[in-house]
Amino acid sequence: MPPTKSRDALDRLLVEGVVHGDAEAWLPCLSRGVVDLFFTSPPYADARAYSRIHPDRYVEWFLPFVRAMYDATAETGSLIVNIKNRVANRGPLKGQRHPYVYELVLALQHMGWRWIETYIWPSQTLCRAGSAHGLRTASSTSTTSLVGPSRTST
Ligand SMILES: C[S@@+](CC[C@H](N)C(=O)[O-])C[C@H]1O[C@@H](n2cnc3c(N)ncnc32)[C@H](O)[C@@H]1O
Repeated sequence: MPPTKSRDALDRLLVEGVVHGDAEAWLPCLSRGVVDLFFTSPPYADARAYSRIHPDRYVEWFLPFVRAMYDATAETGSLIVNIKNRVANRGPLKGQRHPYVYELVLALQHMGWRWIETYIWPSQTLCRAGSAHGLRTASSTSTTSLVGPSRTST
């Protein structure tokens, strides 16, 4: 069960270390500005069994989570999002890289996060497979870091 009072949420997270629950229920229970770092690895769009979120709807789907993180993050805090773009397997962009990761970054900036850096993490397994075809960068995952809510911009 998620906590009911904002103070309970942080206390329980600090005491229990790891909690199993729905982030959409937990995140809004955090008090404003109490978190120094969110590091999240959300479901990739339309990728595995746990995610059937089409890339066209990904930003809309993710915004409630990140809005709650924004409210809970300290002015000096940061958000790191581990995410990967993908080739659209249906719709008008079928066969092309879908821009949902970039759309998400723009939406986050619009919310008031300040975009600092993107790191590319090559996957060892997939790089080996891709290198036979000269596609070493095709399998990377990017981790995008954004800092501190700029409270004046929303
Ligand atoms: C890309 S995976 C993250 C994998 C993780 N970084 C790891 O190394 O095991 C995304 C995870 O988000 C979880 N997830 C999806 N929706 C969630 C929600 N509303 N609240 C909490 N977790 C959620 C999925 O079950 C999945 O385990």
